[in-house]
Amino acid sequence: MVWLDKKKRQEQLRNAKVQADRAFFGYERIHTTEKTERVLHHFNSVARHYDFMNTLLSFGIHYAWKRTAVRMLKLAPGDRILDVCGGTGDLAIMAANAIGPAGQVIIYDINRAMIQAGLPKIINTELESRVRHVQGNAECISFSDRHFEGVMVGFGIRNVTRMQKGFEEMYRVLKPGGKMMCLEFSKPTWPVFRWLYDFYSFHIMPFLGELIAGSRKAYTHLPESIRMFPLPDELSEVLKRIGFSQVSYRRLTNGIAVIHLAVK
Ligand SMILES: C[S@@+](CC[C@H](N)C(=O)[O-])C[C@H]1O[C@@H](n2cnc3c(N)ncnc32)[C@H](O)[C@@H]1O
Repeated sequence: MVWLDKKKRQEQLRNAKVQADRAFFGYERIHTTEKTERVLHHFNSVARHYDFMNTLLSFGIHYAWKRTAVRMLKLAPGDRILDVCGGTGDLAIMAANAIGPAGQVIIYDINRAMIQAGLPKIINTELESRVRHVQGNAECISFSDRHFEGVMVGFGIRNVTRMQKGFEEMYRVLKPGGKMMCLEFSKPTWPVFRWLYDFYSFHIMPFLGELIAGSRKAYTHLPESIRMFPLPDELSEVLKRIGFSQVSYRRLTNGIAVIHLAVK
C-alpha cells in the first residue's frame, strides 16, 4: 500500500522545482494556491478537536516525541525561539519552560483557529509573558534575518505548500550557530509494524476522525500526506543543500516520527 518508492519521491521533489505552481495535497496534485486554501480549511475543521485527537490517535505518545525533540535542541535560559507551524503550542510550551523568564517563544502559524485553540493552555499561566503568537505563512516569515537562537517545526512542514521555501526561511531567521529542529512523521522501518501502521492509518484513523471530529476527509488526508513526505536521508539532503550543517536525525517509535537537527 501507498508509500511512494524512492524514484517517485525524487520525482516529486524535482517537480516541486520545475512545476512551481503545482503541489500535492495528500495524493492529489493541485495548484499551489489551492493547496494553501485547502490546508487552511483542513485545520479550520480540526482545530477544536486537534489536541484531543492527537492524544487519542497517538495513544499519547506525541507528548513523549515532543519532549524528546525539545530536549535535543538543548535550549538555554534567555533563548529566543520560533515555533513554525506552532498550532496549539505544545512544542512552544515545552520550550518556554526550558528558556526561563528571560527567554521568548513565538508561535508562528497561518491558521487563527489553531492559534486560538491553544490559547487556554497559555493564558493565565506563568508562561503567558514568554509566549507570543504571530499569524503568518512559513514561506515568508515576518521576522528579520538572524533573529532566533532556535527554530523548530513540529508536524507542520508537510503542510507548507513549498516545503523548501519554509526551511530556507527558517535558515534565514536563525542566528549563525543557531539550531533548527524538525519533528515529522515518517515510514516505520520494520515491515510487519509498517503493515499494522498502514492498516491503522487508513482504516481506524479516518473512522475515528469521522466519529469524533466529524471529518473523515481530514483524517484521510493526514496519512496520505505522511506517505508523500521525504524519507529521513532525503530530508537531510534538502537541509544540507539549503546550507544547514551538522544535519542529523533520530527515529522514534520504529520511525513513525523522526527528529531532524541542524545548525546554521
Ligand atoms: C499538524 S499541525 C502541528 C501543530 C503543532 N506544531 C504540533 O506539533 O502539535 C500543523 C500546523 O501547521 C500550520 N500550517 C500549515 N501550513 C502553514 C504555513 N504555510 N505557514 C504557517 N503555518 C502553517 C497549520 O495551521 C497547523 O496549525
